Amino acid sequence: MKKREQWKSQIGFLLAAVGSAIGLGNIWRFSYMAYSYGGGAFLIPYFTALLTAGIPLMILEFAIGHERIGSAPLAYARIHRNWEWLGWWAVIFVMFGIELYYTVIISWCVNYFLLSFNLGWGQDPNAYFFQKFLAITEAPGQIGEVRTPILFGLIAVWFINWIIVYRGVQKGLELANKIFMPMLFVLTAILVFWSVNLEGASLGLKAYLTPDFSKLSNPRVWIDAYSQIFFTLSLGFGIMIAYASYLPERSDITKNAYLTAFINCGYSLFAGFAVFSVLGFMSYTQGKPISDVVAQSIGLAFVAYPKALSLMPGGNLFGVIFFLCLVVAGVSSSVSIIEAFASAMIDKFGFPRKVLVSILCILGFLGSIMFTTQAGLFWLDIVDHFLTNYGLVVVGIAECILAGWLFDVTILQRHVNRVSSIKLGRGWIVLIRYFVPLVLGVMLIGSIRNEVIEPYGGYGWAAVALIGVNWVLLTILASVVIAMRPWRTKEREKRGRGHTR
Ligand code: ALA
Repeated sequence: MKKREQWKSQIGFLLAAVGSAIGLGNIWRFSYMAYSYGGGAFLIPYFTALLTAGIPLMILEFAIGHERIGSAPLAYARIHRNWEWLGWWAVIFVMFGIELYYTVIISWCVNYFLLSFNLGWGQDPNAYFFQKFLAITEAPGQIGEVRTPILFGLIAVWFINWIIVYRGVQKGLELANKIFMPMLFVLTAILVFWSVNLEGASLGLKAYLTPDFSKLSNPRVWIDAYSQIFFTLSLGFGIMIAYASYLPERSDITKNAYLTAFINCGYSLFAGFAVFSVLGFMSYTQGKPISDVVAQSIGLAFVAYPKALSLMPGGNLFGVIFFLCLVVAGVSSSVSIIEAFASAMIDKFGFPRKVLVSILCILGFLGSIMFTTQAGLFWLDIVDHFLTNYGLVVVGIAECILAGWLFDVTILQRHVNRVSSIKLGRGWIVLIRYFVPLVLGVMLIGSIRNEVIEPYGGYGWAAVALIGVNWVLLTILASVVIAMRPWRTKEREKRGRGHTR
């Protein structure tokens, strides 16, 4: 049997995990949430969510992958044979859901990277983005046609994805992240230092960091803080399980989990300085209050930012660096999604990586085309809403039940403590067994309640049910079917690192 691929170095693994975590969500989604939920006060629910759910789950996912030595389906099957489907569901809805629109947003960034050279969005970035670039229709049902510039960007994105994942763990993912992550940190630092020196930057920073504690009594803030932590740390994607399965036996699990989480969240905080300084600059030059220049999350990067770039001396260079950061952050996350799925297929069916990844990237590209149409933004919004709010959260709850209740979680705890410098105490077990599933469960009920009260985003029940709910149901069906297929590899028989239950 072929030996399982491994990272060349611990730092290679850490950079790949950080690369997966830092993504499109960190740069503007975090900033927008921080702003709309009371500036500096948002950091309280955000860090509470990080410490009480994010880090414990990151340790759990690393532990599952490392101790059971497998991608999500294999690792879950080795924990409990009836739960293989859950691993498939995670990697399927992420690969054939989140990844399909995620790559399209990276393609928008590629387009805006090129447009930045001559500030090609013109005088009215809002009209440019919605009417010219997306040429958005009236409703999700009016598909319109494929937008050629987005399609070309998409081809480039899938091509880069393909090269990286095709080359495998060491020569592909590890090497790419060793280049991408330092590059991203340097570019972001340039943006931050540049932007905080702009006139009016302090207005933006004030809005970003001044706490408005009254917002904390709104349950929505807490729900969103937990879901942001989930998305930003790539939890429930099956990625961290697969990545940890490529670690050698002696690897410090807890240290890597803490580092990944803190580097990711520290990066979000840091990037927020650049986002808000620029908004402050715009509010200052236009003489408008900051609340008038902050747009919805998508609008923040593709409307508000381009507007500011047109006003700024050297704005084109700033734009080139900003959109390049988004592309780099996006690609390092998108390859991790493909890897999580590819790793599962290799474990189960023993497919050769190169053939599998090539087919997968072609299928992924074809699937993404739907989101390049004139109704793409609607579809993206609906699919994203359902998959991140339900898919990831349900996987998180199920993971805790599986490891905490249907399995002896102390096996994982002992394993982690044997190889790690920071030891896990009873607190971690309490979080995994009780706290995390409870909090996520409450979040889930809250979200379902909102769903029933009114259809998401005012789209109408038909669109929401046809696109969102069906996407969830179809992916569950596919996972159950694949889980029922026999294992082609001998992998199943071995149970992780020699532990018996
Ligand atoms: N963790 C990745 C992000 O934040 C998926 O975009």
